[in-house]
Amino acid sequence: MVDKAKIYQIPGLEDGRKADEPCTIVIFGASGDLTVRKLIPALYHLYIDGQMPESFRVVGFARRKKTDESWREEMRAGIEKYSRTCNVNDSQWQSFSENLCYHCGDLTDAVAYDALAGRLAKFGDSQLSRNLVFYLAISPSLFGEVVDQLHTNKLLKRYEEGAAQWQRVVVEKPFGHDLKSAQLLNNHLIRHARERQVFRIDHYLGKETVQNIMMFRFSNAIFEQLWNREAIDHIQITVSEDIGVGSRGGYFEEVGTLRDMMQNHLLQIMSLVAMEPPPSLEAEDIRNEKVKLLKSIRKMTPEMVSKNVVRGQYFAGTVNEDARNGYRQEERVDPESNIETFVAMKLFVDNWRWSDVPFYLRTGKNLPHRASEVRVQFRPTPNVLFAAQDNLDLHANALTLRLQPDEGISLRFNGKVPGNSIQTRPVRMNFGYDAEFGAYTPEAYERLLLEAMAGDATLFIRRDEVETAWQIVDSIREGWGEIPLSNREFYAAGTWGPVAADDLLKVDNHLWHTPVPANK
Ligand SMILES: NC(=O)c1ccc[n+]([C@@H]2O[C@H](COP(=O)([O-])OP(=O)(O)OC[C@H]3O[C@@H](n4cnc5c(N)ncnc54)[C@H](OP(=O)(O)O)[C@@H]3O)[C@@H](O)[C@H]2O)c1
Repeated sequence: MVDKAKIYQIPGLEDGRKADEPCTIVIFGASGDLTVRKLIPALYHLYIDGQMPESFRVVGFARRKKTDESWREEMRAGIEKYSRTCNVNDSQWQSFSENLCYHCGDLTDAVAYDALAGRLAKFGDSQLSRNLVFYLAISPSLFGEVVDQLHTNKLLKRYEEGAAQWQRVVVEKPFGHDLKSAQLLNNHLIRHARERQVFRIDHYLGKETVQNIMMFRFSNAIFEQLWNREAIDHIQITVSEDIGVGSRGGYFEEVGTLRDMMQNHLLQIMSLVAMEPPPSLEAEDIRNEKVKLLKSIRKMTPEMVSKNVVRGQYFAGTVNEDARNGYRQEERVDPESNIETFVAMKLFVDNWRWSDVPFYLRTGKNLPHRASEVRVQFRPTPNVLFAAQDNLDLHANALTLRLQPDEGISLRFNGKVPGNSIQTRPVRMNFGYDAEFGAYTPEAYERLLLEAMAGDATLFIRRDEVETAWQIVDSIREGWGEIPLSNREFYAAGTWGPVAADDLLKVDNHLWHTPVPANK
């Protein structure tokens, strides 16, 4: 079994990975869903894995009345229910939970910040009370208010080079709903903090396998040599969900799949898959390359949107033998809603490496199963020798990076069927994370919280990345305009989206690859 601590030790990055300076994490939204399901379980696991600083505190901030003790009990129940181990050791919990306290207040009320400042000051250690991670697990409409109040109460200071203490602000998605709102939000955030103090989360970047894309590309000569238009025919990125909107219908009506998934997760994965090698592993170098890639994506005119983007909405169907409502019948959804629950699109990257190579991206809800994968389809061999023989079914090589749920990498190539005749069959070389390293994959939030405490912004999104991604998404939304969904744009729950999504590839003589369900 692999040494768990080594999971974090990416070669060349060992130094300074571990957050070792004392600090306090203040969670705004401490009574909310994200805190109990993700943040506290992640901090607990970091603690038991010895990754937290020797000295730390977690202060939960929300309006609901709770004592330190009652909040701790809720958080413990949350770990038992939602964490990756669903298990809490009494003595480890005891020592961890001593560092947790709850601060009751309204974040629009100046008095609550004054009291918070008093509470932090009582920690007695200047680093604990001044090295602060403010985690905003609240609605984005409240981000500006919190940052202003923190500034007024001198809890958040603009970082000066060489300063003994630091403060950082971690913000959750959605980061704006279009370019303009994202710019406004960014302007507000950096009024009182430098860009390097702002950590914008896309939890996909915290996933082990997403991080592995870069490692895979830039440490394996056999693939990097081929990672270009000469060898690659096209690339597919699929992120499928096997659930509908559930109780989040109200939220989803305001957002839709293009903004909820494409703007962040899929474009982030694409930028890691397609970017140029950065000059170093420094956060800014990597983020510069990602932005360059996003800026090279061909701009969509409304005409291109109608040809290259397919949207869809699910109607009633069955997923894994479970009957599902149509989107328009979901709670808090307009019965005539035109919000998309599925998007597929073809993008081109206008640079030297990728000229004319299509990137097909698709994501949707109530699809047959949950999976995320990158499929790199290589060009076929020349049509001579084996390929020229009619009865031979030759498949071009394909590399699949499975990001979830069954993380791994597989390579498809042609093998000769044993015997006297010449027959080929596609075969696979398969690498599975669990088989190789044991079933230990830290939750994305563990890695992200650790990096925020350590001050490494590599896995967070920079201002220009967010804004460039919004430009791409805005041009698609402009193309859609107010046009209602047509019949061709609906799909039954439990299928891979509307027929038009298949047609998007068919015109190029391509087919979507169906991701393999977990454990198959
Ligand atoms: N949940 C997830 O899995 C998830 C995943 C990705 C991103 N996010 C993002 O994370 C953020 C939080 O999501 P969530 O699901 O945790 O939301 P939630 O369950 O609705 O929690 C919202 C929190 O904000 C607090 N709050 C609201 N108004 C407040 C006020 N005036 N003063 C003090 N506290 C206030 C609430 O506390 P009181 O009611 O006690 O005041 C509650 O703790 C959102 O931006 C969401 O988009 C969530």
